Amino acid sequence: MDGDNGVVEEVLVARTSRRTEAEPWNAQSPDNSAQNRLLIKGGRVVNDDMMQDADVYIEDGIIKQVGLNLHTPGGTKVIEAKGHLVIPGGIDTHTHMQLPFMGTFAVDDFYTGTRAALAGGTTMIMDFALPDRGESLVEAYHRWRSWADPKVCCDYALHVGVTWWSDKVGREMQELTEEHGVNSFKMFMAYKDTWQLNDSELLASFKTCKQLGALAQVHAENGDIIKENSRKLLSLGITGPEGHEMSRPEEVEAEATNRACVLANQVGCPLYICKVMGASAASVIGEHLRRGVLVWGETIAAAVGTDGSHHYNPCWQHAAAHVTSPPLRDPSTPDKLLRLLDVGDLQTTGTDNCTFSASQKALGKDDFTKIPNGVNGVEDRMSVLWEKGVVAGKMDPCRFVAVTSTNAAKIFNIYPKKGRIAVGSDADIVVWNPHATRVISAKTHYQAVDFNVFEGMEVHGVADYVICRGRVVVEEGNVRAVSGMGKFVPKLPHSQHVYGRIEERDRANAPHKVERAAYDGPVASLNGPAPSSAVEDSIIPASSQEFYTRGPTRSGGVNLHDSSFHVSGAQVTDKSPKRPSVKVNNPPGGKASGSFW
Ligand code: URP
Ligand code: ZN
Repeated sequence: MDGDNGVVEEVLVARTSRRTEAEPWNAQSPDNSAQNRLLIKGGRVVNDDMMQDADVYIEDGIIKQVGLNLHTPGGTKVIEAKGHLVIPGGIDTHTHMQLPFMGTFAVDDFYTGTRAALAGGTTMIMDFALPDRGESLVEAYHRWRSWADPKVCCDYALHVGVTWWSDKVGREMQELTEEHGVNSFKMFMAYKDTWQLNDSELLASFKTCKQLGALAQVHAENGDIIKENSRKLLSLGITGPEGHEMSRPEEVEAEATNRACVLANQVGCPLYICKVMGASAASVIGEHLRRGVLVWGETIAAAVGTDGSHHYNPCWQHAAAHVTSPPLRDPSTPDKLLRLLDVGDLQTTGTDNCTFSASQKALGKDDFTKIPNGVNGVEDRMSVLWEKGVVAGKMDPCRFVAVTSTNAAKIFNIYPKKGRIAVGSDADIVVWNPHATRVISAKTHYQAVDFNVFEGMEVHGVADYVICRGRVVVEEGNVRAVSGMGKFVPKLPHSQHVYGRIEERDRANAPHKVERAAYDGPVASLNGPAPSSAVEDSIIPASSQEFYTRGPTRSGGVNLHDSSFHVSGAQVTDKSPKRPSVKVNNPPGGKASGSFW
């Protein structure tokens, strides 16, 4: 390649991936150290909304030019990408590196996990700081930062768990949002007795998210039902991993998903459903979306790449390796979830990468409720989505980019810094070989865990080169990552993508009182006799204060304490002072347009 000064530059040729021995901890390739000018030449650039044949020129970690026949300075390193796709680095929205969980720690830590992420074409992960019940959220955040910062090989951000509720938690959510780059908080509807919140705590946390311009996330499963089902199954002698799936049927996920949507909508809070595993939960999201609820759905690589039949495998270790929550579902599910990703009812893909090796899973050898929950995925997500989505004809490369990267960047407010190949964006780029194949196996993967739920799957689509903030960290399939090389990416609140509609919506849906002449007739006394027989007929026990707080909601009156108020959907849009009655003609569950704060 001739630079503009005529110097012949170093040229790398993208070719079919070939993996060699993993680099040792802290290995530093000379190629990585001072590489500030890079040209990716001759590839096809794919963004979520367009594809174009273009070169990409990078300087100091930022994309400086996108176009044909670019003039570049001398000393520029060149990657020949002919026949390859040049795509935004993947963003895994859901990981748990080295999570302390169920008495042990996830075996993939922030080093092995993020290095594996890069190997597969993911240049950023979003992990969860999960405080213990009663623990300060801010302290948990700092604890996670102290684990991650020295180890991460790729960029990362943090969601923070609201695992208990108090006013202090609300204040800490504010501090995290305003001072620490956190704009998403996760509430658990399962894990009873540890992280689970009840409905009023969910409402309080949703309201706080709304006030802060943050995104509320939920783990949607009904923890009370799971606890009861688990007790019954164990008493029947069902102690193996199949009990995990049996205790958490699809409707248990769908019920919580619906409840979360209703609760969030009632307080006008945008909602992100983490890890949608069941087709029924996904349908619930679709129904709410079509009623105007601000809800986004994430599924995971394992949900589209494997299924719950493995819980019934005669090998205990194999079955236990598939235990995750919500669980993997029946074999018809991957196809359904992929179609929903394509049409947009689901928008993002994470992995819930939370890995435990066989001996850790064996903590639950006599009781499925003690099997540490979690599967792998951070390394293989891009390939699995490519294979099951694009190669199978269920999505095109643009949609693949949307669901593996761009949508996450938009939802979590880091777009177009991340999730796009454009001038000014971070140079997080994958030179993707759509023709190369590899066979996924625990024997060859980079992850620390000793099992891979995609074992034996042949996938097309291999990350030949991965560039993270302008550094070539994967070269011909070999990872040259360095611990601590990744950066924490702050996420600011009030994402346009999430909150852009909210102000107008709140204004449009604001409740209006009905202007009318004051009632000047007789008023029943609370403890005494009714003043006239006409009034007496309409009175239910006069001692009940309830009587006075429940106004005629369906015929013009607005009473904010009446739980049926919102369901009709009529009151908030009915601005007519004299309308005698409202015909209710809404879908079951009511219109979604009626939330007003
Ligand atoms: O099943 C998994 N991965 N458990 C980890 C915690 C969670 O539910 O996110
Ligand atoms: Zn998780």
